[in-house]
Amino acid sequence: MMDRPLIFAANWKMNHGPGEARAFARKFLPLTSPLQGRRLWFFPPAVSIGALSEALHGRPDITVGAQNVHWEPKGAFTGGISIPMVAEVGARLTLVGHSERRHLFGETDEQVARKTRAALKAGITPLVCVGETLAERDGGRTEQVIVRQLASVIQALQIEDWDKVVLAYEPVWAIGTGKNATPDDAAQIHELIRMELGRHEIRNRVPILYGGSVNAGNVAWLLTRPQLDGVLVGGASLDPDTWAELVDQGSRAKVRPSGGYGVLEA
Ligand code: PGA
Repeated sequence: MMDRPLIFAANWKMNHGPGEARAFARKFLPLTSPLQGRRLWFFPPAVSIGALSEALHGRPDITVGAQNVHWEPKGAFTGGISIPMVAEVGARLTLVGHSERRHLFGETDEQVARKTRAALKAGITPLVCVGETLAERDGGRTEQVIVRQLASVIQALQIEDWDKVVLAYEPVWAIGTGKNATPDDAAQIHELIRMELGRHEIRNRVPILYGGSVNAGNVAWLLTRPQLDGVLVGGASLDPDTWAELVDQGSRAKVRPSGGYGVLEA
């Protein structure tokens, strides 16, 4: 079986307008080179997708995506942005169900499933996020929450759709807090997710990223676990030097079970 790619995903959240995005790209591009099997993904605010896509154009290892989309292609949804619109300005991916969307904006499992299905239908790769809150973790409900969040997406998709889906496990208590899951904690939930996928014959197809206060200092520690296919990073992706350093540290650390990475081929 082919290795799943090693993915470094930058979620800029509500940071970097078009001018800042261009300036980031100018600084970042010379700091990294394409490596086989490694992908660098950027999720800027919607208004910066076009500028960033243009600025990063020509790098086959880099892809730009949206942070959120509506499931309808157009219509009376004030403030909404549709998948064809973000695709027109260069997005090839979209985050779906990030915990800030779920918990600050009240996005439901059902909406997450609709957005995932709509993205696939439009030919855009959904990066679907799941994760438990601190209260859910403390209440011993981590497994139950993850299984529930996955179930709504699994129900909405066909088996063959899973070739084009990426998942991220992001414990809500670790996002922007400086607290990390340990590599063992993260690996354990990644295993749980794979087991759930396995019950639907999709165990090995889907890359699973880890997110939550990942930085250049801890990325190597986390990526020693073969269960992690990459990282989804907020705060530490905003500065080009810091992000390039994180990508470099993570790439060096990653050892794939089948012998890929470790020393990455140029
Ligand atoms: P953080 O955010 O790296 O700032 O914790 C991660 C995320 O929300 O995707």
